[in-house]
Amino acid sequence: MATCLVTGGAGFIGSHLTEQLLADGESVVVLDDLSTGQADNLAALKDHPRLSIRVGSITDQVALGEALAEADVVYHLAAAVGVKLVADNPVHTIETNIYPTEQILRLAAQGKKAVFLASTSEVFGKNPKESWTEEDDLLLGPTSKPRWAYGCSKAIDEFLALAYHRRFGMPVVIGRFFNVVGPRQVGHYGMVVPRFVDQALDGGPIEVYDDGQQVRCFAHVREVVRSVIGLVRLPAAHGQVFNIGSDSPVSIQQLAEAVAAKVGGNIAIRHKPYSEAYGDDFEDVRRRVPNLSKLRSTLGTAPSLPLGSILDDVLAWRREVRARRDASA
Ligand SMILES: NC(=O)c1ccc[n+]([C@@H]2O[C@H](COP(=O)([O-])OP(=O)(O)OC[C@H]3O[C@@H](n4cnc5c(N)ncnc54)[C@H](O)[C@@H]3O)[C@@H](O)[C@H]2O)c1
Repeated sequence: MATCLVTGGAGFIGSHLTEQLLADGESVVVLDDLSTGQADNLAALKDHPRLSIRVGSITDQVALGEALAEADVVYHLAAAVGVKLVADNPVHTIETNIYPTEQILRLAAQGKKAVFLASTSEVFGKNPKESWTEEDDLLLGPTSKPRWAYGCSKAIDEFLALAYHRRFGMPVVIGRFFNVVGPRQVGHYGMVVPRFVDQALDGGPIEVYDDGQQVRCFAHVREVVRSVIGLVRLPAAHGQVFNIGSDSPVSIQQLAEAVAAKVGGNIAIRHKPYSEAYGDDFEDVRRRVPNLSKLRSTLGTAPSLPLGSILDDVLAWRREVRARRDASA
């Protein structure tokens, strides 16, 4: 069994990945600075004999080098994430998302260790196609608009990872995540599902940005982490980029209506201009749908849990967190 380094392992996706790797019998070292992640996400696992949790930054070369020395496989998820955080802090985004990735690849190449790189559908930018394949053009907006710094930083990470794979022959897998959702995702950084769920549980209104006709596809985090682990273990996937997500499109208006219906009690839905949420610089992407043919043909499966079941899971988790908070108040 391997030892896996999960950078960002106290985050939303990272904590589910850590859980699944431990359940599969692997050992896990987590390196997380708890900036957007939380120690609570790993609370149920903290005494696990095959888990070591280190609070530190991937920008600290010593901490990163020590954590990586222990691992056979690196799942690199730590990053500056969230539309709002990234739009507000473009320098931090670039520094966190590019230099440490280069260092991880360099150290992993020396030890011929496998690396999974968490990338994002944001790299496609505003490509107007109905659905995006991994070989489609990246159509980012101008550098004067900070929101594109995130997708651009992840695209550079992808170039680096593929270059290291070609040059040193090390196993590398790149996953472009499309709207991963589920328990433990928080709404502070612009994530839409937890934000809508909390607004609905507070009695409304649910705030939909713009006209609500933006289209997204939501995938359950548990299915996403199974895809990630499956790809890393499959030699045929090495050196390649994969879209990872659901391909069932839903508009943000439909999402708001689905959340309101699940919570019940006549919850209002209000529309708000993007400029009020993210400032005048903000540009959104109207439609974001992955083509999953490559994932399906390589892995034989892709995330498919319907939105209703995902929302049930998120609602159950939020109700539990809120009940605990109320009980301790
Ligand atoms: N959730 C999604 O829908 C989605 C979509 C596309 C891509 N991604 C990518 O998946 C990865 C995980 O995202 P997430 O949704 O779980 O977000 P998250 O914020 O919950 O996870 C990121 C984790 O990285 C940690 N981190 C940030 N900077 C760090 C640093 N300098 N050193 C150490 N740890 C640091 C945070 O504390 C957090 O635990 C990210 O790389 C993100 O870009 C996520």
